Amino acid sequence: MLYGPRTPVPSARPLSLSREGGGVACSDLPSLCDASELRASPASSGALGGRVLLDYPPTAPAPLACQLFIVPSPHSTNLPSRASSGAEADLVERAFERARQSPRRRHLAFAAGNSERLTHYLFRYPAKFHPPVVRQLITDLTGDGELLYDPFCGSGTLLVEARVAGRHALGSDVDPLAVFISAVKSRPLAERRLRRDLGALMPALVAHRRSAAEYERLQFDDIARDECASQLDSLWAPAIPNIEHWFRRYVIVDLARIFCAIHQAPIPETSRRFFWLVFASIVRAASNADPVPVSGLEVTSHMKRIDAAGRVIDPFALWERAAEKAIRDMGAFHTAAAPGIRASAVTADATCLPASVKRREVAAIITSPPYHGAVDYYRRHQLEMFWLRLVWDQQQRLRLLQRYIGRTKVAARHPLVRAKVGLPAPEAVVEQQMREVDASRADAFRHYCVAMGRVFGQLARVLKASSPAVLVVGHSIWRGTALNTSDLFAELAGPYFRLEEVLDYPVKNRYMSYARHNGASIDHEYVLVLRRTKTAAT
Ligand SMILES: C[S@@+](CC[C@H](N)C(=O)[O-])C[C@H]1O[C@@H](n2cnc3c(N)ncnc32)[C@H](O)[C@@H]1O
Repeated sequence: MLYGPRTPVPSARPLSLSREGGGVACSDLPSLCDASELRASPASSGALGGRVLLDYPPTAPAPLACQLFIVPSPHSTNLPSRASSGAEADLVERAFERARQSPRRRHLAFAAGNSERLTHYLFRYPAKFHPPVVRQLITDLTGDGELLYDPFCGSGTLLVEARVAGRHALGSDVDPLAVFISAVKSRPLAERRLRRDLGALMPALVAHRRSAAEYERLQFDDIARDECASQLDSLWAPAIPNIEHWFRRYVIVDLARIFCAIHQAPIPETSRRFFWLVFASIVRAASNADPVPVSGLEVTSHMKRIDAAGRVIDPFALWERAAEKAIRDMGAFHTAAAPGIRASAVTADATCLPASVKRREVAAIITSPPYHGAVDYYRRHQLEMFWLRLVWDQQQRLRLLQRYIGRTKVAARHPLVRAKVGLPAPEAVVEQQMREVDASRADAFRHYCVAMGRVFGQLARVLKASSPAVLVVGHSIWRGTALNTSDLFAELAGPYFRLEEVLDYPVKNRYMSYARHNGASIDHEYVLVLRRTKTAAT
């Protein structure tokens, strides 16, 4: 074994190596407090917990014959300036160079208590940014009046915070509901004006609301199908497949009444969109689906029990309560928003951005990419998408499905699965290991890696040279396989970006964070600060 020059050489006893899975595990590390990496020749290695797993093909010669390089961390005080000579020394030199270049690590300090509501709570969006973290990142990494971009904008947290901080913002997302939410939440409207427009809307709502006694009765006894059809006669209701599974019939009528009242109210379009967002925010609570799970959409046995025991669903009351809060929050945002600043949101697939986005010269990207297997946004948003007429039929919705990154099931014929693209070495090994157990799981993983690789290529085209791309991520376990998302993204971004810094912070609000029902630790999130390289291969 060869240790790097001037690293503290541990006791003479050899490391104990054993075969494990598709590689070799080294569980008896010498006490090198400085060791940041172990590297095996010819294969690469990755650190897992306190051990090191060497990717070494089981068919290869005995691993004890391989050379291990123990590389001190960049903070080490005894980094060598140069190695002696010869091929081995060259290898060691390169390993040390990598160590010198490895990213800085630190905790992200942010003012958690200083969190204004603004419009952040107008819609419960899973895995959204923690606003104080975004605020801190904007302050630390960007300048006044710069253009910031979030290619996975979700509910528009970055856009809202950017407007308050005096930065222009552009958001895009493949999910049309996300784009709608982002656009409405990041457009400040004065509270006085919204109250006036609410006044214009209320008479239509009051006229159609049922009595309290009727709602009491309807908790056990829904209206008949023909009665529902006649009540819907002059209204519009969406073509949601199997709609009666998702809503009681009278609820469909009530939601249609609220929707039509907003549609016909004599109010400006901006206020109408605001009230539609309020409408979208109550659809789930008015449905039969369980409001708690963040990752998908399901009428759980728990909800069936609650409904059987009696549940009053009054969509009008839900809407009015939500509108009251939303108006107050929007008023606060209107007061806080910096003057002369623009924010906009567009529908776009981050793997192939449209020219309108690519034309923009972005000073910084701040985003949180979707996880694989964490939140099924496509399924989760289906009721709201139909009600807001963002999709009209199932065919249209199915076409959208192909575009989402992070799905657990992706057809083997999907162009990104079939693409003749080699994954970076560590991901290729993971893919191969998965494929031996479960081909569909390997396809989904491959889809995720290829798609994210393309995303980095697109982001490099939008971002000015040497500018930062900041990714908020969490580590996860994907169906039993540990995945270090920071390493994964650093590898995939490699051709275009250099990983400069890794920040971490503890996660408090689990709903705001990633929904990982897959056994992963959810108590920390990480911020990767990537820097676009000058010579990015775009
Ligand atoms: C973690 S969420 C972002 C949440 C956001 N930061 C917020 O504060 O609300 C990830 C987003 O990626 C979007 N997404 C998934 N695949 C995409 C694709 N191919 N292109 C663009 N957006 C995509 C999802 O719709 C989801 O909104």
